[in-house]
Amino acid sequence: MIELSLGEVAAATAGRLDCVARAAERVTGPVVVDSRRAAPGALFVALPGERADGHDYAAAAVAAGAVAVLAARPVRHPAVVVDDVLVALGRLTRYVADQLTEVIVVGVTGSSGKTSTKDLLAHLLAGRGATVAPPGSYNNEIGVPLTVLRADRSTAHLVLEMGARGAGHIAALCALAPPHIGVVLNVGTAHLGEFGSREAVARAKGELVEVLPPEGLAVLNADDPLVAAMASRTSARVATFTIEGSVEGSVKGSVEGSVDVAARAVSLDPRGRPSFVLVAASGEAAVHLPLYGAHHVPNALAAACVAGELGMPVADVAAALSQAVPASRWRMEVAERADGVTVVNDAYNANPDSVAAALEALVAMAGGRRTWAVLGEMRELGAASANEHEAVGRLAVRLGVSRLVAVGTEAARVHAAATQEGSTVESATVPDADAALALLRDELCPGDVVLVKASRAAGLERVGEALLATHRPPVSEGLS
Ligand SMILES: Nc1ncnc2c1ncn2[C@@H]1O[C@H](COP(=O)(O)OP(=O)(O)OP(=O)(O)O)[C@@H](O)[C@H]1O
Ligand SMILES: [Mg+2]
Repeated sequence: MIELSLGEVAAATAGRLDCVARAAERVTGPVVVDSRRAAPGALFVALPGERADGHDYAAAAVAAGAVAVLAARPVRHPAVVVDDVLVALGRLTRYVADQLTEVIVVGVTGSSGKTSTKDLLAHLLAGRGATVAPPGSYNNEIGVPLTVLRADRSTAHLVLEMGARGAGHIAALCALAPPHIGVVLNVGTAHLGEFGSREAVARAKGELVEVLPPEGLAVLNADDPLVAAMASRTSARVATFTIEGSVEGSVKGSVEGSVDVAARAVSLDPRGRPSFVLVAASGEAAVHLPLYGAHHVPNALAAACVAGELGMPVADVAAALSQAVPASRWRMEVAERADGVTVVNDAYNANPDSVAAALEALVAMAGGRRTWAVLGEMRELGAASANEHEAVGRLAVRLGVSRLVAVGTEAARVHAAATQEGSTVESATVPDADAALALLRDELCPGDVVLVKASRAAGLERVGEALLATHRPPVSEGLS
C-alpha cells in the first residue's frame, strides 16, 4: 500500500493515537486482519471475529513487526483508536483509493462466477500493467478493503470482486473504491433467501452500474435479461457480451447499441474444456480455455470486454485466455487419480445455477464414462430451497448422470426427486461427508468421473481431497 504516517491514518479514520511515540512513524504495509500475517511495517486491524477478538492478538501483531493497531480501545501498544474498526477500515480504504488517481478500478459482481471472472481478468490485465486483485473470494466489507489497501502508486489496475447479501451492500463496497468499470455477470438464485426474489437480486447487483461515472463502462451480459436491463440504470457507456445462439429470442435488442463481444461456435473438448471464436469489433480470434465447463465462457467474455476497453488487442486477449490457469481453489478443480478415477472438486460453494453448470460440465467431460454427482446442500435459498433441490435431482436425471449421492438432510430432496423422475440414475442419500466417502471408496471404479459440490458450509471439499489422498495422482491438474 502507499506509505502513510500514523497521523494520516488517524486523520483518515477519525481516530486518535494511543501509545504512539511519533505520529510521523510510517505504515509501509501490509494492512492485515490476521496477526499471523503481520510483517514489519504492517498495520494490524483488530476486528471482532466470530470466535476470537482481534484485540487479543494486538501484542502478537506488534511482536511480528506491526507499526500500530487499528483498534476500538487502547491495547497497550501503539494504536489508532476509533469508535468502530470496520467503519475506520472503510474510511482508510477510501482515503487510499482517492490518492491512487491513476489506478483503473474494475468491480465484478453477479450471482455466480465472480471469483472465476476476477481471476481471468487479473490474468489478462497482468500482462498490461501491475494488477492488484484479491486472492480467492475476498468480496465483502473486509476483503475489498484489504485488496484496495494492497494497491500503490505503481498499480495500474485494481480488480475487485463484489458480493452482496442484501440491498445496499454493493453500493457500500463501491463507496470504498469507486469503480470506473463495472461487470455484472448474471442474476441467479444465490442468496435468494436473503433477497426474496430475483428482481431484488437484480436491484442489488445493479447498484454497481449506478455508481459508474459517465466516462466509465458497464459490462453487461446480454444473455441475462435482468442484467441486460441494467443498461437503463447507468450513465456510463455500456458494453455487452453474448454467446451466439445461446438464448432463444436473443435479448440483444434490449440493450442500446450492439453486442460488443461474442463467443461463436462454442464447443467442449472431450474433457469438457470450452473452445470458441472470440468476436469483437476489432477482429476475431480462437480461444481454447484450459478451464472445465461451459459456464466459463460468459466469464471469459466479460473479462475480454474489460481487456478490450483497456486497449488489449483481441488476438492478445484470446491468447491470454487460452493460457489461463485456475487461480482459486475448489472451483472445478480436476485431478486424475492413479487408478484412472477423475475427481472434480467444485465444493467451494453451490447454488442452483452453479450446480447446473457443474453437472453439465461433469457429463461433458466424462465423454461416456460413468459419472458420479456427490451433492450437498445448497444453502441460503430460503423458501425456494425445497423446489430448488428437487430441480437439481430432476436435472441430474435429464443430463444422464449415472450415480447420485445426496449428502445431508436438505440434499436428500435431490435424491427423492431424482428417484421419482426416472430410473436411469442410481441414487443414494447419506447423512454426512464421511458416509459419502465410505460409499465412494466401496463403489468407485477406474474410469469413473466424480463431481463433489455443495455450499461451503457443508464441508464437502474434504471428500474431494480425501478421494485424492488415497490415490495420489502422478501429475495433478489441480492447484498447488
Ligand atoms: N457464469 C457462471 N454461471 C453459472 N455458474 C458458474 C459461473 N461461473 C462459475 N460458476 C460456478 O459457480 C461456482 C462458483 O464460482 P465462483 O467462485 O467463480 O463464483 P462467485 O460468484 O465468486 O461465488 P461466491 O459468491 O461464493 O463468491 C463454481 O464452482 C462454478 O461451478
Ligand atoms: Mg467468489
